[in-house]
Amino acid sequence: MGRLDGKVAIVTGAGSGIGKASALLFAQEGAKVVCADLNGSEKETAAEIGANAVPVQVDVAVGAEVENMVGTAVREFGKLDVLFSNAGISGPFGPVHELDEETLDRLLAVNIKGVFFGIKYAVPEMLRNGGGSIINTASNAGMVGWKDKAGYSAAKGGVVLLTKSAALDYAKSGIRVNAVCPGMTWTGMAAAQASAPPENIKVPNPMARFAMPSELAAAALFLASDESSFMTGVAMPVDGGYVA
Ligand code: NAI
Repeated sequence: MGRLDGKVAIVTGAGSGIGKASALLFAQEGAKVVCADLNGSEKETAAEIGANAVPVQVDVAVGAEVENMVGTAVREFGKLDVLFSNAGISGPFGPVHELDEETLDRLLAVNIKGVFFGIKYAVPEMLRNGGGSIINTASNAGMVGWKDKAGYSAAKGGVVLLTKSAALDYAKSGIRVNAVCPGMTWTGMAAAQASAPPENIKVPNPMARFAMPSELAAAALFLASDESSFMTGVAMPVDGGYVA
């Protein structure tokens, strides 16, 4: 028996990294999965899953596109149980006085507005359905400051409190809202630009290594499933002890 049998889930940022690992794991655990991403990569993840997945191209910073993404889940699979708002961007990096307004606007739009729109449009469907689980991806950079990442940290700190506030709004309606806060994870740019395999790179956390996408997917699965049925408003670090 799968831990998400009979559930319908949306995963944003499903084309790579943590989102892709999560979409594949959710499907393996019995969910029907809407794979959402910005750049076409969502099609590959959906194809890898097969009949129990559909791709949706979406810019999570655009409310109408997020509304359409939720509509696709309901049209294709009849309801929505789980939303994993994982899509996010992090760079470019530098001290505050070098961060330009356009960069800051995009960091906030994708990371905060993307999560906000997810909650806004998923909740009505979840209310119709008698409940649901929303998981947002924040970061350990949303829990403590990170040098040269002020815009990203501000956005991810915003995701933490957006998560906690929304959890209070819907606690009595059966909709749980939690966040995962990854530490440095072996995805995207880190993996593409690395000159050594991950086990040979010293990472500044107590476990002194990168997280693997599968370790974040496992945390998201726990929050998506009924195993976390009494958890809401939690910002869960998955970071090798960095914020301990
Ligand atoms: P990734 O770059 O491998 O995957 C992110 C995915 O999101 C990409 O497929 C990208 O196309 C998609 N995306 C970006 N902007 C989007 C938009 N506007 N609309 C829809 N999709 C969009 O990154 P990774 O590492 O898997 O990151 C996933 C989440 O984890 C992000 O929210 C990131 O901020 C967070 N995170 C990652 C950490 C890391 O070390 N990799 C550390 C802490 C947090």
